[in-house]
Formats: sequence, structure tokens, C-alpha cells
Amino acid sequence: AIHLPGRHFLKELDFTPEEFRGLIDLAAELKAAKKAGTEVQRLRGRNVALIFEKASTRTRCAFEVAAADQGAATTYIDPAGSHIGKKESAKDTARVLGRMFDGIQYRGDAQDTVEELAAHAGVPVFNGLTDDWHPTQMLADALTMTEHCERPLSETSFAYLGDARFNMGNSYLVTAALLGMDVRIVAPRAFWPADEVLAAARKTAETTGARLHLTEDIAEGVAGVDFVVTDVWVSMGEPKEVWDVRIAALAPYTVTMDVLRATGNPDVKFLHCLPAFHDLGTEVGREIHERYGLRELEVTDEVFESPHSVVFDEAENRLHTIKAVLVATLGDA
Ligand code: CP
Ligand code: NVA
Repeated sequence: AIHLPGRHFLKELDFTPEEFRGLIDLAAELKAAKKAGTEVQRLRGRNVALIFEKASTRTRCAFEVAAADQGAATTYIDPAGSHIGKKESAKDTARVLGRMFDGIQYRGDAQDTVEELAAHAGVPVFNGLTDDWHPTQMLADALTMTEHCERPLSETSFAYLGDARFNMGNSYLVTAALLGMDVRIVAPRAFWPADEVLAAARKTAETTGARLHLTEDIAEGVAGVDFVVTDVWVSMGEPKEVWDVRIAALAPYTVTMDVLRATGNPDVKFLHCLPAFHDLGTEVGREIHERYGLRELEVTDEVFESPHSVVFDEAENRLHTIKAVLVATLGDA
């Protein structure tokens, strides 16, 4: 199994295709072992700090349960509960936590902050989401795709609909490039990933044989794909003022049953990193309904609740894949 002692996990393109696939394979092994009751603890005595400057359900819980399953302890540091970025720099925080912990998870806005922590901690640092990248989510999505498509990932295709300029869109593009996949970014041109991200993905694709396609045309973009994926239209940290423009621009890109039918693939599966706006069951959902008269945004409730949807397999796989990152970087050989 893959062993990456001491390595950081900051962004997808820090890894070779073999390493990234190795982590997905390790996650599949750890998942099977947990289900069979044969899991072997390789993180006994380790301590992992979990810094969250933004909210989380899945990522936090995945780190905590993964660590507990493997015999490690975690300390959760909430957005209000530490000095980081306020009274103490990322550099000083890194040097303090690095003296106490064997690894540090960070979720926040700036990729620079997680890179700064990594530069000074002296222990592995894991990116649990920044504005630019969501690499642990990519391992979970790739594992979920391997479970729901019999072909290897290099023969698998997916279409991402929605705001592709933020963490999820960026990460999907480079991950597809790394894994040699067929990816279609389907969004208004103003919502395509930045030129630097596209250039890096294209460079990687040259070596892996990945096919990267960007289009505004939904029918063309989704034709024949194995998976349709999306993300929220307004991400954490963005002000409500962007709602008007965002909703108007992206409304045609809602994942509906018609979009799934347009794939021409009766077995097409739907992924979403979650949380999703697909009903009125949340505070934000009700506010959006009041302001815009909409009951759902990036995905309809019908798609979300349909047999096409594998979002809860995907959510579960956060646990197994984050466990793989911890075991590979901090675990006994
Ligand atoms: N998908 C994801 O990162 O979920 P959380 O925000 O709940 O961690
Ligand atoms: N793009 C979303 C992903 C949440 C997991 C956000 O950053 O809020």
C-alpha cells in the first residue's frame, strides 16, 4: 500500500497520478477492512489538530472518526476558538502546533494560509478546503466514481455544471487531468476556472491523456457522461450580495431530470460534495425562496432524491479517503 511519510496534502497537483491513485486504492482497502471488522490501527499515539476557520459537517467528522478508528486523538479548533489570523500569525501558529501535534488539518479562505502552515509546522499539513482547492473531497469523489462505474477512471467521464471558478470547479478540473479522465466544465464562460488553473490542468493532461472540455452548451457538455456533478452557487465566505447575479447567471445550469436525460445514459449518476440547496428544509433555502421564489438552486429535489443520486456514498467516502491520507502520511509503515 502507498506510504507517504511526512508529506503534506495541500493540493492535487502536488501528487503524481500514481500517488493520487494509491491514496484512492488505500481508501478502498481501509473501507473494506472497516466493513469486515478487520481494520488494523496504524495511528496509535498520534495527535492531529483540526483548525476550522469555516463551518464543516463532513470534513470535521471524517477527520475525527478516521483518527479514532485508527487509534489517534484529535483536537478541534473552531473559527472563534484560536488566535490564528487575529492575534497570532499562521507562521507562529504552525510552529506552536508543530511542537505538539503529529499533523494539522486546516480549513479556511486562503490557500496561502495552508501553504504557510505547511512551510513552518514541521509536521504534515492537510488542506480541508480553501477558496482554491478541496483535495480531500476529490479523493472521495474519485473513490465514489470507481464504485459506481465498472471502467477504470481513465475511461470515465463527468460533467461539472455551475460555478467552476471556486474550489470544487478548480479541483475537479485538475483531478480529472491527473487521473486521465474525460471532464466537461459546463458553465457560462465567466464561471470557467482561471487561466492559470486551466493551463496547469492542460499541462498535466498532456502526460495523462485526460480530455478537458469547457463549454456553455449543456446538451453538448453532458452527452454520454457517466457522472453529472455540481456544487453550491454561493460558497462559504461569499457575501449575500452576489446572490442576485449568481442565481440569474446559473439558473439554466440547474441539474434537473432533463439534464440527466440529455446525457443519453440511463445509468448516469449524480454527485454533490454537499451541503446542497435542493429544498426548503434549511434557513438559507427558505431565504432564497422568499427572495427569488425558488425552491432549489443547483440541483432539483427530484434529482437529489432519485436513484441516480450517490451523494451519501460520496459523503461516507470522505471518512475512508481522509483516513487514507492520515494513514499514508502519519501511519506506521
Ligand atoms: N463536502 C464538505 O466539505 O462538507 P463539509 O463542509 O460539511 O465539511
Ligand atoms: N464550494 C463550497 C464547497 C463546500 C464543501 C464552499 O466553498 O462553500
